[in-house]
Amino acid sequence: MAVTRHEAVTTREAEAAHEAVTTHEGGNAHPGGTAAGAATVLDAERVREDFPILARTVHGRPLVYLDSAASAQCPRAVIRAVEDYQMRSHANVHRGVHLLSQEATAAYEGARDRVRRFLNARSTREILFVRGTTEAINLVAQSYARPRLGPGDEILITALEHHANIVPWQMVREQTGCSLAVAPIDLRGELDLEAFRARLTPRTRLVAVAHVSNALGTILPVAEILSAAHARGIPVLIDGAQAVSHRGIDVRALDCDFYAFSGHKLYGPTGIGVLYGRESLLAEMPPWQGGGDMILTVSFERTTYNELPWKFEAGTPNMSGAIGLAAAIDYLEALGLDAVAAHEQRLLEEATAELRRIPGLTIIGTAAHKASLISFTLEGIHPHDLGTILDSEGIAVRTGHHCAMPVMEFFGVPATARASFACYNTREDVRRLASAVRKAREVFR
Ligand code: ALA
Repeated sequence: MAVTRHEAVTTREAEAAHEAVTTHEGGNAHPGGTAAGAATVLDAERVREDFPILARTVHGRPLVYLDSAASAQCPRAVIRAVEDYQMRSHANVHRGVHLLSQEATAAYEGARDRVRRFLNARSTREILFVRGTTEAINLVAQSYARPRLGPGDEILITALEHHANIVPWQMVREQTGCSLAVAPIDLRGELDLEAFRARLTPRTRLVAVAHVSNALGTILPVAEILSAAHARGIPVLIDGAQAVSHRGIDVRALDCDFYAFSGHKLYGPTGIGVLYGRESLLAEMPPWQGGGDMILTVSFERTTYNELPWKFEAGTPNMSGAIGLAAAIDYLEALGLDAVAAHEQRLLEEATAELRRIPGLTIIGTAAHKASLISFTLEGIHPHDLGTILDSEGIAVRTGHHCAMPVMEFFGVPATARASFACYNTREDVRRLASAVRKAREVFR
C-alpha cells in the first residue's frame, strides 16, 4: 500500500504529541499505553498547543472548553490529515483505476486497519464505518434485531442509557412486537448488577448497554455484564461513545459482540464513527441500506451483496472523516491512553472536590468508578441560566437533559450542567469553572 503524504503528516504530528508525555522511572511511553511499571504524566499545557481552537477567546475571555463529552476538539494532526487528503488525494474510493482513486482507497482502507488495531479486532471485516454511534446502534437494531425478534422476545438495556441506545430498540419493538426491559440504577447512578442479572431471562435476545454514561459519568461493569449475558448465549452491544477517549478498548479481551463509537468524541471529525461487529454475526446479518459499493452484481431480477465490511457501507463513504479519525487515533495513542486517563482522573477528583465546597451545588452521579465528567445542579438557578453565565466567562459546559431524559426523570431534575474533561484541560480550567459557578451563585442570591 502506497504511503501518501497525509500519512506522513499524521506520523509527524503524532511524534510531536508523544513529546507531551514524560515517563518517570525510565523508559519511553509507548503509544497506546505506558511503559510497564512506569508512571506517565501528561503535560497538558504542551498538549493544548496542539489544539488551535483553544487559543481563541470567548466573550473576551480565554476559552475554557469543558464540553468534550458532547464533542472533543480536533488537534492540528487531524485538521492537517483531512486538509492534506482533500488537497492532494481526494477521489471516490473502490471504483477508479486512476491514481487519485487508488490513493483515496488506500487511505480509507488504511484508516479501517488503524481502527482495527486501535480496537484489537481480528479483522478489518469487523470494522464498519458509519456516521457515528447513533447510526451504528440503528444498524444493529435494523439488521440484527429486527429480522430475528418477535413477540415474546426481549431486549435488555439499562436505566442510564442515552436516547441513541433507547429509541432504536423502541422502533424495533414497534416493528416486531418484542419487549424492552430496563435494568435499574441506584441513587449514585450505578447499575444494580444483581437486578440486571435477574432481568436476563430465556426471553432475552440482546443486551445493549453504555460503557460510560454520558449524563452521569458512571463506568459500567461491562466485563460482568458480558459474562452474565454470554453465560446465557445472549449477544451484547456496547455503546462506547463516552468510553473510547478515556480508556483502551480491546474488543477481543472484552469478547463483546458489537461495540459502537463516534469519531468526534475521540478528537476526530464529525460524521464518522465505527461499528465493530463479531464477524460471525455480521456475516449472518442482511445489509441495512442498499446502493452502490455494497453489491457485487445487480440485475433487475437479483442482486448479490458485497463481502464484509463493504456489505454495510452503501454509497460513497466519508473518506476524509475516516482519515481524520485514523489521525486522531495516532495522536491519542502517541499521548498514551493511560497517561490521558490518569490526567483526566486527577482533574475529575480536583473538580469534584472544588465543586462540592460550593453551597447549594449537588453532583448528580456519584458512582465509585466515573469517567471525567461531572453533572451538577445549583440550587435556585436553572442549568440553562448557569450555562449562560459560565459562557459569559468564556467557559463552555453542556446544559440540558444530555439526550438522557429517563436519567433526569430518575434523579428528579429537568436538566443538569455538565463539565467534561479531556486531555487538554488543566487545573486552571477547574479553578476557573469553580470560580465562575461561585460567581453565578452570587448573581442569583
Ligand atoms: N451525546 C452527546 C452528549 O452527551 C451529544 O453531550
